[in-house]
Amino acid sequence: MPKIGKYELRSRVLVAPMSGLTDLPFRRVVNLFNPGLIVSEMVAGQMLAMGKADTLARAAGGGEIDPLVIQLVGCEKNWMSKAAKLSQKAGAALIDINMGCPARKVTSGMSGSALMKNIDNALELIVATINSVDIPVTLKMRLGWDIDNLNAPSLAVKAQKAGIKMIVVHGRTRCQFYDGKADWSAVKETVEAVDIPVFVNGDINNANDAIEALDKSSAAGVMVGRALIGSPWKLQEIISAVDRSTIPKQLNIKDKKNPYNTYVIKSLPPTPIAVSSKSSIEASILSEPGEYLFFVANKKGSHYFSKTYNEHLEAVKLYQLK
Ligand SMILES: Cc1cc2nc3c(=O)[nH]c(=O)nc-3n(C[C@H](O)[C@H](O)[C@H](O)COP(=O)(O)O)c2cc1C
Repeated sequence: MPKIGKYELRSRVLVAPMSGLTDLPFRRVVNLFNPGLIVSEMVAGQMLAMGKADTLARAAGGGEIDPLVIQLVGCEKNWMSKAAKLSQKAGAALIDINMGCPARKVTSGMSGSALMKNIDNALELIVATINSVDIPVTLKMRLGWDIDNLNAPSLAVKAQKAGIKMIVVHGRTRCQFYDGKADWSAVKETVEAVDIPVFVNGDINNANDAIEALDKSSAAGVMVGRALIGSPWKLQEIISAVDRSTIPKQLNIKDKKNPYNTYVIKSLPPTPIAVSSKSSIEASILSEPGEYLFFVANKKGSHYFSKTYNEHLEAVKLYQLK
């Protein structure tokens, strides 16, 4: 398995940071499938350093996410340095720096993917972050700012020299935002430019995509994001394919008659069960006691993950999903 510094990953499949989605309940659910890493939502370094409570909550792992990876976004080295120290104190095992976010509100402040336009500043941030902590620091980036500036390989070489221990490359430029298709082959140049593990990201929706992305990029592993929204169990299939070269039988989770559009995941083994009524949920829980999590299938966010059936019904009511 790939190593990040001295830390050996338990899987070559990573879960992508997604602002507004990869909060603690979501990360708790995907954690059931044992991915290599689950990255927190991006956390603004300055807000974290200023002690904003909601920022701290966004980064938290609740003692359950191990290793805890906190992703920082920012463009000012002193704030990044303070935020990195705080993240380590809060239990982070790894810190990831965001150089991939394309959102205008982030790039207009010269953070996220805008740092790929200003390599000197990017390197200052990297060095300040690494020097502030004694845990590994990783980097998430795109292919470059636009098609005329595909500088991921050269940034990767400089970042490795500065002490970055792992890199994820989303196979799009910033100017593409989420248009078109991620170019997995284009990630190969970065893979070949450095010795540290490079992971390929973008548009990996199932096991076959994961294998094709690895083939085309020669990456150390894959990072998966949007495919897991509302269907976190897809991770199981992707992990099997990537780590064990087997594709498990497709889980039958489509049940059109299901009035609540509800699915249940039992902690161990992580098998989703489609349920069609309160009584069938109760029956399955009674036949196999344990901890369960309730979902509304194919809906965004973690608001739909509840720990008890009553909590779940409240969520269903709230979002008028009956
Ligand atoms: C709603 C949403 C929020 C995101 N937030 C972040 C973020 O906080 N940090 C980051 O580095 N990337 C963020 N991304 C980008 C993803 O991590 C990932 O690179 C991208 O979605 C491509 O991978 P995918 O096709 O597997 O989703 C976000 C993407 C989405 C859709």
